[in-house]
Amino acid sequence: MLLVRFSVAALAACFVGDSFHDLRKPEPVADGRIARLDAVERIDCTPCHRDVAEEWATSLHALAWVDELYQEELAEKKKPEGCWGCHVPAPLADHDLAQKPPPREEDRELGISCASCHVAADGSILGPWGAETDAHRSVKDERFAGSRADELCAACHRTNVGPVLGVAKDFETTDQKAKGRSCVGCHMQTLERPAANVRPGDPPREFPRRTVRSHALQTPRDPSFLARAFEISARRVGGRTLVDLENQSGHRVPGLIGRSLKFTAEVLDPQGTVLATAKAEVDFRSFVPVDETLTLELAATGPKVRLVGLHVDPRLTAPVEFLRREFTID
Ligand code: HEC
Ligand code: HEC
Ligand code: HEC
Ligand code: HEC
Ligand code: HEC
Repeated sequence: MLLVRFSVAALAACFVGDSFHDLRKPEPVADGRIARLDAVERIDCTPCHRDVAEEWATSLHALAWVDELYQEELAEKKKPEGCWGCHVPAPLADHDLAQKPPPREEDRELGISCASCHVAADGSILGPWGAETDAHRSVKDERFAGSRADELCAACHRTNVGPVLGVAKDFETTDQKAKGRSCVGCHMQTLERPAANVRPGDPPREFPRRTVRSHALQTPRDPSFLARAFEISARRVGGRTLVDLENQSGHRVPGLIGRSLKFTAEVLDPQGTVLATAKAEVDFRSFVPVDETLTLELAATGPKVRLVGLHVDPRLTAPVEFLRREFTID
């Protein structure tokens, strides 16, 4: 048996542990929906945290209330209030993270706002360092940097509701944390920059550069991020070629009803003629569990294999190619 391991654009190595250190700024494929929440200008935090606020404003956290698909489903519900908690949560710090977050009444269009994650019951700001500032009281909290970082994310991502599958439950039940993996490690890019900006009108000053994380969430609608979900390899077994896609994300793929991934593998002869083809599709029923492998079986062998992946997502107007690889088997 011949085994060829190759990395997806040399990215496979970054799935080791929590590194994910070469994450890039997300580049989601345009889907014709709102791309930036303009209401970000109304948030008190924005003038002093412009960089963070702009990142957040493009994330689905910011868009969680105005989201058209969400609003459409909400309109059909007899008791829509059951759908509010995670999309417009009151500050989470006041509540048991094992329970569904309670909703807030005001400023719904801010979705999962800065205050939802950062404001404590006494009004102080929870963060990764507890750095002293005259702007507000900052308190270091383990849920922002330490061993409990995933609890915050899991509070909303653990539950199956509406079209949502609780990917954080996969993460927890398979003990991904023990492998050094974390939600923020894979979904929030590491950056070096000051954590605050000078508020317009204030005298110039310098804030320390820090290692921070981008609030622009890494999204599966960024094809290059989605491709990282799999480590791909090919092997010959007898007269067949097997192409293996091992799920390297910290949870099932895909994790939302309505999404699917379609794969086509082809074995080619030296002239590029297709000798055999295999197709596979995964969706919310036939998903690839975390750490497991989807295998495409081709009834021929040849020197070359081509693998193409298409992403179908309710938020995309048409399927998007996220994977195209040609590689040789010696
Ligand atoms: C326990 C928390 C929670 C509750 C309660 C909740 N949601 Fe969500 N919702 C989420 C999460 C997390 C996502 C993101 C899932 C993803 O992207 O994989 C989401 C995403 C969605 C989306 C997808 C939006 C899009 O852009 O495609 C829709 C639609 C939606 N929710 C509808 C509902 C409806 C309807 C209800 C009430 C029945 C509801 N949600 C209640 C957590 C929740
Ligand atoms: C879904 C929860 C969530 C929301 C919403 C959120 N943050 Fe954060 N924030 C975090 C987490 C988690 C970290 C820590 C990341 C790390 O360093 O590991 C963080 C870190 C920070 C930091 C420290 C510097 C940095 O960038 O890491 C600042 C400042 C900050 N957030 C401000 C904001 C502001 C302002 C908003 C609204 C525009 C906001 N956050 C919205 C979860 C959130
Ligand atoms: C008047 C300006 C100002 C406003 C308004 C402001 N901040 Fe800050 N914030 C700062 C400064 C300055 C720092 C310290 C930066 C440093 O030392 O690196 C900071 C630090 C932080 C941190 C890091 C805390 C830590 O662990 O050290 C977080 C998180 C944060 N702010 C969130 C927020 C949120 C959320 C809001 C709105 C509710 C907000 N800030 C409003 C100026 C401001
Ligand atoms: C208060 C509930 C809540 C918390 C806490 C929360 N999320 Fe979310 N998250 C959501 C909802 C709701 C959506 C989907 C919104 C929509 O599509 O309308 C979402 C969407 C996402 C997406 C999908 C982005 C995309 O473009 O497809 C990712 C990734 C994500 N969250 C990661 C995280 C991470 C990492 C954390 C922890 C730092 C976190 N979430 C904390 C509720 C939450
Ligand atoms: C080892 C890296 C890794 C870890 C750890 C990880 N993710 Fe992901 N996540 C990914 C990749 C890659 C994708 C794209 C695959 C896909 O589209 O299903 C993704 C997709 C998602 C999505 C979109 C799913 C969908 O079907 O709409 C959400 C939401 C999400 N992750 C949340 C989380 C949360 C919450 C955690 C922590 C409990 C987490 N992720 C841990 C890599 C990771």
